[in-house]
Amino acid sequence: MCGIIGYAGGRNAPDVLIGGLEKLEYRGYDSAGIAVFEKDGVRVVKTQGKVERLRRKVERAALAEVHCGIGHTRWATHGEPSDTNAHPHTVGHVTLVHNGIIENYHDLAAKYHPSPVSDTDTEIAAAVINACYRGDPQKAIFEAVSMFHGAYALCVMFDDKPDTVYATRCASPLIVARGENENFLASDVPAILCYTKRYYLPEQGELAIVTRDDIRFVDEAGNPVEKELKTADWDEDAAQKSGYDHFMLKEIFEEPRVLEQTILKYKNDFSIFEDEEFCFEVKGNIHIVACGSAYHAGLMGKYAIEKLARIPVITHIASEFRYDDPILHPDDLVIAISQSGETADTLAAVRLAKEHNVRTLGIVNVRGSSLARMADHTLYTLAGPEIAVATTKAYLCQVALMQLLAVKLAGHRLTMQEYKDMMVAFETLPERIETALSFRETAENIAARFVDKEHVFFMGRGQDFSLAMEASLKLKEISYIHSESYAAGELKHGTISLITENTPVVASLTDSARMQKTISNLKEVKARGAFVTVVTYDDVATDDFADCKISIPRQPDVTATLPAIVTLQLLSYYVALQKGCDIDQPRNLAKSVTVE
Ligand code: F6R
Repeated sequence: MCGIIGYAGGRNAPDVLIGGLEKLEYRGYDSAGIAVFEKDGVRVVKTQGKVERLRRKVERAALAEVHCGIGHTRWATHGEPSDTNAHPHTVGHVTLVHNGIIENYHDLAAKYHPSPVSDTDTEIAAAVINACYRGDPQKAIFEAVSMFHGAYALCVMFDDKPDTVYATRCASPLIVARGENENFLASDVPAILCYTKRYYLPEQGELAIVTRDDIRFVDEAGNPVEKELKTADWDEDAAQKSGYDHFMLKEIFEEPRVLEQTILKYKNDFSIFEDEEFCFEVKGNIHIVACGSAYHAGLMGKYAIEKLARIPVITHIASEFRYDDPILHPDDLVIAISQSGETADTLAAVRLAKEHNVRTLGIVNVRGSSLARMADHTLYTLAGPEIAVATTKAYLCQVALMQLLAVKLAGHRLTMQEYKDMMVAFETLPERIETALSFRETAENIAARFVDKEHVFFMGRGQDFSLAMEASLKLKEISYIHSESYAAGELKHGTISLITENTPVVASLTDSARMQKTISNLKEVKARGAFVTVVTYDDVATDDFADCKISIPRQPDVTATLPAIVTLQLLSYYVALQKGCDIDQPRNLAKSVTVE
């Protein structure tokens, strides 16, 4: 969702700001803008549409060489995407950009800004800060935010305080990064990696005051706050396309490496699961909360934990969790899975668990993210920065980490031989993913059969059903083809009426115990004219029920599905490519969903 960038230093600020906004494009947005300090005041350039359009508008605006400013990519929440609703917004002395939602903006508008120009809550935030401003930015910002209900990361400029950016946050992400004689603000680390790796994480109730030479933090009482300077362990290359046409393809091809890293970290040293204050023993139930693909990873986790550790697991869609009045017990464990660590619904679920005194464990990709800070204990997936909106490598790492956690939770339930077999399965997983990637061309060829289709059905049983859900989401989000996933046995309870001549049906057959049952269901759809694609092991004969087959290496355990999902990620990618879709930034979607 919205992306924020800020700069104070010796470089030409519009170049840095627009370069930063390009790096934030993956978050999803529909308008963009910048504001810079010129000699005679603050100048704003903004537009509906892509950053490229903003770049051209900035060139036409012929800004003077300036050295400080703020920029924003907006994902519309309040009001349509338009030039007027784009950020930055200016009211009086104040110009600001905002990520989040000020929920009580209607009430604040009535009091402070009854005739706004835009439809946004952000303009009201600017008006409230301006109303509180009597020459002291710190006081004005703290006084104003004390009236805000909701989530915000704000970067604020005052027209009479040149070359200084003030920033504060509550629930929405923001980093403040230190360079050499230049400093930055950003929604996340990839935006500033080409300048510096050193950054601070502001906490709620702190204000950052950023100039070219200095970064200071103060609390609400005006006292200085000492903060730890962190170092990003992602390199700049990780946030580049590196010769691939799309980040999504690059990230799919990174899967063997990032999986290896994640597996090595946890497999070689299971004590990493230990923490003096956090006990992994679970006497009650496990609740998994997550959204979208992370929820699908949770379903895989449920399967592995119940199978190996025999602990009951309830998976919850995070956006439903807090309204369901969930049955939580202090002996339970809530596991929240999130790539970004900023998903508002997942964070709210964790907050609720904590209110019920239930232990929380975060499975997170982004270091220092809100979930990592909020959960009682965090295990990091080592997927590196994921830029494509559709998750691929992070999802795979989430699943692998959940499966490793299942082994840990199983403890002595596993015999030594079972444990050894699991370890071999994890060791060979990156290699099996490599093999799956080598079927890239097969996936590309099969994709040609999907491009003109309006509906696709994915089906499977057990883990293969969770996989079908993820494969279906992947296809629909990037190719805009309607797709649905079904437990294979459910089709005949209604959905089979939709199967006609050439309807595409995709199934994975990795679970040997249920394979024959799914094959029977495939025969049912084949008999009704479906065009059937299966992903399964080389030695499974598929001629009498499938039109196309993608082979994967055989592995008889919970890790068997991962190579299959990789081939279906490739299939979605090639369908979207052949349809000419915007693969890395599908319409209406945002990488980090920071609103409810
Ligand atoms: C789909 C996708 C989303 C995310 C979901 C949760 O490809 O990426 O469904 O999985 O928005 O995001 P995180 O994992 O950041 O909480």
